[in-house]
Amino acid sequence: MNDDELDAVARDILISNDRGGYTIPTDGLYPFQWNWDSAFAAWGFSTFDAHRAWTELETLFSAQWATGMVPHIVFHKEDDGYFPGPEVWGVGTTPATSGISQPPVAAILARLIHDRVDGTERLRALYPKMLAWHRWWRESRMAHGITCVTHPWESGRDNCPDWDPGMVNVDTSGIGPYQRRDTGHVDAAMRPGKADYDRYLAMVKFGRDCGWDQKRIRDDGPFLMGDPAITFILIRANRDLAAIAETLGEDGSEPAAWADEMEEALPWLWNRDLQAYAARDVRTGVFASAISSGAALGLLAGVENAQMEAHLAEMWDRVRYGIPSNDPAAPSFEPRRYWRGPTWPVVNALIAVGLKSAGRDADEARLRRETAELIRQGGFFEYFDPMDGTACGGNRFTWTAAIWLAWANRGDA
Ligand code: DGY
Repeated sequence: MNDDELDAVARDILISNDRGGYTIPTDGLYPFQWNWDSAFAAWGFSTFDAHRAWTELETLFSAQWATGMVPHIVFHKEDDGYFPGPEVWGVGTTPATSGISQPPVAAILARLIHDRVDGTERLRALYPKMLAWHRWWRESRMAHGITCVTHPWESGRDNCPDWDPGMVNVDTSGIGPYQRRDTGHVDAAMRPGKADYDRYLAMVKFGRDCGWDQKRIRDDGPFLMGDPAITFILIRANRDLAAIAETLGEDGSEPAAWADEMEEALPWLWNRDLQAYAARDVRTGVFASAISSGAALGLLAGVENAQMEAHLAEMWDRVRYGIPSNDPAAPSFEPRRYWRGPTWPVVNALIAVGLKSAGRDADEARLRRETAELIRQGGFFEYFDPMDGTACGGNRFTWTAAIWLAWANRGDA
């Protein structure tokens, strides 16, 4: 297939994953609207349908909670092919949603979309919603000035080694029997293990039992870890929100100040043993012991650190394709298991936005070339083995198609 034919397939994937104002990430495995997937879907739509791009973000924000939180899953329609569904979350909203959030990339993508297509009035309507969401992160997910996650699913990088120090302390005694659905769609060797799922469900149970009281979840819940990826993303997203405010003639000084404060807090995430930014357990102070692709998002936040960049360059040179989600030199590296080693087009695209902002054009071009090569060889899969390019996870994946259209095949990061 040549690149024009791949463009056509990518557009067809977005269109066929459209369920009416929102896209599902992929048929079967993920049959609802996922938060950060949708923001990337909007970016992809903006290459051929500006109206539909804005609609994707509007539908996502229509499920925003009164607290400002934008949930990580919106269960618009029933589908029993996914577990845990709305009855397990027990949130009680309409539409039903999960009770946690996901990486706040919407402002970053909304700005990129607005750079490409019309839509100032639609951006204007989204602006206060994005601001409320960022405020929610600040009020509900901060510790030591760093953005934290209360569940690995909130990070979007579910089973990456970042969360190992927090996962070991999660008590799974009360979860009861359950039936996973993901391994009915995808090879179990490419998914998180049972011990991970037991802990994921223990965290959901804690949230449900306390009526999704976010303060209790943060202060007393089973898991709270500082996330370098979301911290870097939110610094960037706050600065992008400030830039959006300026475009709209609004006052963006508040999100700009939030970004500066977060940047000042970054030393708390600096792991001296690794000489790198790393996830850190808020309850115990223990750092993750491997460098993950989350740390590679520093440039997205405008954070330039020579040691960190040197580690990332080494990590990149250890693989053939893209930035791996875990360092191949780490004992925890598994090249095909979800976030424990594979390279993800979606993270590569975010890293590329950072590389471009830092003027690292040659690195950005290399990352784009390697990501495009994976898609040309393997198709529009969810993630890939960074050593040999084997396609992994779900097929006809929305954000991989979106990233092909918006970045990997054109370089507009
Ligand atoms: C899953 O179910 O695998 C998702 O990553 C949760 O968001």
